[in-house]
Amino acid sequence: MYIYIFIFFLVFNVTLSFTFSEEIQEDFLEQIKAQYKIEKNGIYEPLTDTAGNSVLGRAIVSGRKANCLACHTAPIPEEKFHGNFGPDLSGIGSRRTKAEIRLQLVIPRYFNPDSIMPSYFRIKGLRRVDPVYKGKTILSAQDIEDVVSYLATLKDSKN
Ligand code: HEC
Repeated sequence: MYIYIFIFFLVFNVTLSFTFSEEIQEDFLEQIKAQYKIEKNGIYEPLTDTAGNSVLGRAIVSGRKANCLACHTAPIPEEKFHGNFGPDLSGIGSRRTKAEIRLQLVIPRYFNPDSIMPSYFRIKGLRRVDPVYKGKTILSAQDIEDVVSYLATLKDSKN
């Protein structure tokens, strides 16, 4: 008998917390979107006044902090292992504009609501953030600009 009550509470709790976290996630995404001027699927205004540095950007993309290569292939031959969860970044500068790349890095879920790509740039002043994300910064605004600047240089050799 007690076991049934126990199971009931277990199922009830799991359902409840699932619905709740879905709600927070929706809210989170809306708040993030509200912080940027998004036009034509891009963020046109750079996040910082200092122009991005593509050399530093390349180092970030190949580095462990952002771990882009866990999911992407890129023309960085000195790194042995490249992932293929996401699209190959070779030629990305021919396929997407800087503004689109910036939006992809800041809000990956803008383009794909189920994206597994992490949101790299912390957004200030959010309330009701899932504790898992609270206070976590993967990349700084300047890092984002550097990465955007590097990716924009990856032009398709066919073009
Ligand atoms: C956990 C896996 C994962 C990591 C880590 C990751 N990405 Fe992604 N990325 C994806 C996936 C999957 C997509 C495809 C679109 C989507 O689902 O969001 C994507 C899409 C992209 C796109 C758009 C590609 C296109 O062809 O339009 C860019 C640019 C990009 N990622 C850059 C990066 C950079 C730069 C980093 C590191 C700072 C990074 N990603 C880290 C999974 C990842």
